Amino acid sequence: MESFIDRVLISEDEIRAKVRELGAKITEDYRGKPLLLVGILKGSMVFMADLMRAIKTNCKIDFMSVSSYGAGTQTSGQVRIILDLNKPIKDFDILIVEDILDSGVTLSYIKKLLLPRGPRSIRICTLLDKPERRKSDIVADYYGFTIPDAFVVGYGLDYGEDYRNLPYIGILKEEAINN
Ligand code: IMP
Ligand code: MG
Repeated sequence: MESFIDRVLISEDEIRAKVRELGAKITEDYRGKPLLLVGILKGSMVFMADLMRAIKTNCKIDFMSVSSYGAGTQTSGQVRIILDLNKPIKDFDILIVEDILDSGVTLSYIKKLLLPRGPRSIRICTLLDKPERRKSDIVADYYGFTIPDAFVVGYGLDYGEDYRNLPYIGILKEEAINN
């Protein structure tokens, strides 16, 4: 599997340190508040599992699943809900947990969908931010790393559902794409 990786962009150690830092910030900001972490499946699951344990104030978790990519490396621009939250969110401060903010289409869609449900607040925490490819006017309130415009996999991120179990973030080799 690892022969398909061109290079490691962010190591396990770097991820661990950053998640700890994000968790500390979130802990301070949400202490005593009704925090609900909303993970976007499937990409955020590894990050979510680590981040929630770095948060030292009480929180609940829930998940949504949306799809905007076929099997390729470009967003289709169309977002579909595959799994919605099944409880009201009006009593909660929502923190959406996402693997990567790329074009921004997915997160702006999710934010627009959740806002009318009247939560106390909504913010976004993304592990990776790829600002060069932004199409929607959306920013992350918390982010781990700003990365260049390359297709990355690992730590939950996939290419055609593969590579999610790599413990680091790596850049895929050209020859691993579309074959
Ligand atoms: P956006 O709607 O373009 O911001 O895309 C967000 C979603 O696209 C993320 O949740 C990822 O699932 C996927 N994605 C975007 N860039 C990458 C990448 O470099 N590697 C793997 N998945 C990506
Ligand atoms: Mg994905």
